[in-house]
Amino acid sequence: MAHGTMTQKEAFEYVRNAPHIKKVREGNYKPGAWFYAEPGDGSGLWQDWGVKATPGKRGLTFLDTAKVDAPPPLEAPDRAIIRGSGVDGALPIQEYAASKRHQVWAENVVALYEEATSRQWVASRDIPWDKLTPLPKDQEKAYCQIVSHLARVEYIAADVLGGFLPKIASAFHEVKLFLITQSMDEARHTEVFRKRALANGGGIAPNFSNMNPAYHEMKHGQLSRFQDTSFLLFLAEGFALDLFRFAEFLGKTETDKVIFSRVMQDEARHVSYHTMRTAYDLANNPNREGEILHLHALCDRTEAEMFIWDFLNPHFMEAGAILAAGSVDKIDKGYDSIRLLYSKIREEYLRRCERIGFNRRERCMVPEEPPF
Ligand SMILES: [Fe+2]
Ligand SMILES: [Fe+2]
Repeated sequence: MAHGTMTQKEAFEYVRNAPHIKKVREGNYKPGAWFYAEPGDGSGLWQDWGVKATPGKRGLTFLDTAKVDAPPPLEAPDRAIIRGSGVDGALPIQEYAASKRHQVWAENVVALYEEATSRQWVASRDIPWDKLTPLPKDQEKAYCQIVSHLARVEYIAADVLGGFLPKIASAFHEVKLFLITQSMDEARHTEVFRKRALANGGGIAPNFSNMNPAYHEMKHGQLSRFQDTSFLLFLAEGFALDLFRFAEFLGKTETDKVIFSRVMQDEARHVSYHTMRTAYDLANNPNREGEILHLHALCDRTEAEMFIWDFLNPHFMEAGAILAAGSVDKIDKGYDSIRLLYSKIREEYLRRCERIGFNRRERCMVPEEPPF
């Protein structure tokens, strides 16, 4: 009896009678089979012995251990075991939704993970908060609107990725660990945007009420495939990177410039992983044509909404136009910058797709000319 509710007495019995506990109590101190097994002895317990990874210039990175480690498998075992490990005893079957290499792997994921861990920063200390200077009310209000909107948007990736971690086979540790760094990055982003809204005489702005249905699908777990979620992040985080660049340009204080340059460095890693993962999938998926059709269908139903409600929603457009113009009285002039941003985001998106051999140009659901 290992599961379910036990009385305290039953639990004590269970602990006392576990075979390895009982054995020691009875005076048998001999270690189990794992200790006596050797590679190649037929037990399969040790796949390797005598490995010695050598640190490189940046310490002992996964790039260094990869030289002696088992490579990522084409298909992970349906057991919760780590790569390169044998199995001592019977492990229960564990079905991973993402168990094939083409579903999760990206050629640059190891380098991205090492970059992510070495470039973590601390929002409390690494931002020059003392360099904030008071802004005219319309500008502060507009900047607070932008950072408040972004503070909400940052939850999208963090929430959805957390739900996928148990679905990705542990044999792909580089991918799982990278996604955990991405979640940490997104946590820091929502933190830094929130702190910015509270630090210069403004406050948290009202969030726009419309929630794009594509994200509802994502957040409510209706997207069962990690590939779909990763592809939507490739799309959405690419848009976000362009918005961050624009917000950095709009920033009037050194503090704001530093916030966005830090955030963009993190975000570039996220875009890079999800781009290269999609590219790897399209190059290695045994049903490449089917996958491309599937992604087109996904884009057909998400592209337009994602574009106008999340990334060019009225709060972002209006706040951006006020800041670009320098004041609310000249907001009409500021819209010229928003039109440029619209065209830039659309074009960059189409180019990112083209670079991975996925052509959306003819099918794109967002009009080429800014419709305003
Ligand atoms: Fe982010
Ligand atoms: Fe991100």
